[in-house]
Amino acid sequence: ASTAATSVSISGDISSQLHGGYSHPLTRSWQAERQLTKSMLIYPLFISDQVEEETLIPSLPNQHRRGINKLIPHLEPLVRKGLRSVILFGVPIAQNVKDTLGSAADDPQGPVIQSIRLLRARFPSLFIVADVCLCEYTSHGHCGILRDDGSLNNSLSVDRISDVAMAYAEAGAHCVAPSDMNDGRIRAIKLKLIEAGTAHKVVLMSYSAKFSGCLYGPFRDAAGSCPSFGDRKCYQLPPGGRGLARRAIHRDIQEGADIIMVKPASSYLDIISDAKDIGKDMPVAAYQVSGEFAMIHAAAAAGVFDIKTMAFESTEGILRAGATIVVSYFTPQFLDWLSS
Ligand code: PBG
Ligand code: ZN
Repeated sequence: ASTAATSVSISGDISSQLHGGYSHPLTRSWQAERQLTKSMLIYPLFISDQVEEETLIPSLPNQHRRGINKLIPHLEPLVRKGLRSVILFGVPIAQNVKDTLGSAADDPQGPVIQSIRLLRARFPSLFIVADVCLCEYTSHGHCGILRDDGSLNNSLSVDRISDVAMAYAEAGAHCVAPSDMNDGRIRAIKLKLIEAGTAHKVVLMSYSAKFSGCLYGPFRDAAGSCPSFGDRKCYQLPPGGRGLARRAIHRDIQEGADIIMVKPASSYLDIISDAKDIGKDMPVAAYQVSGEFAMIHAAAAAGVFDIKTMAFESTEGILRAGATIVVSYFTPQFLDWLSS
């Protein structure tokens, strides 16, 4: 009878047996194409022009807007724990700094250029990304220079954005990342980098597939970059626009982008997968934006799940979709979690 039972099970369907392949924590980790490592993480920083400022952003849990004097003490322990990269957003607080052209964006005394210099000198191995946009610096809060009817003047905006990118690159940013969404800015920046003879040492990361929507609210609280009228729907992509995103990714690769970014991340995993497919020979970054981060915190506070477990699950989803770089407000916590 026992022989009969054995022969029945041997003639059964072997492919139905999956559990053996992931019965151990190590074999479970082998099921993933890629594992989160510290070097995949970019940590967003909001840098105020008030040198001593350190303000908690209520809508963006545990995140602060900091003046340049608070930067080193904040980053020192993180660099010690393995922080590899930051992305810088400037926040002018002083009165009368904003104008219609976003003139303060490339002020040599402004927070971004000053902190690029400081971080380069103080942390030689830290990779510094400078977000490039005008919305933090324009009086109207839009991501470029406007026409009289309130729409973006694309060619003036591209000229200005590419000048700002050059100023950040010249100050020492390893990577410039235009988030403005004006058409043709990648080409304009690449040409200026080539012209300046620095294209070989500056990474150009394009926010290629950046969707409009409600998930940037906490960021705009932190950066003071909410538009004073209208919205960004005529330059950021419509949430349903998968084909449009694919065209934007193709376009930016052709224009000379070195890295493609998709943003937000978790609601746009198909777009991350498209970016990996279209840009199969290049790194793909995903930005887990302020609203996604705040949602996870809110749900954890409501007892829906444990925050660490969800931080890992959401990031694993982003990596599985195809990203190899993740911009995340969880970075300081991941540095601890990935050490233990
Ligand atoms: C500015 C910019 C924004 C973000 C990154 N760069 C805000 C916006 O487009 O309104 C959003 C990041 C986040 O929400 O965490 N152009
Ligand atoms: Zn902007």
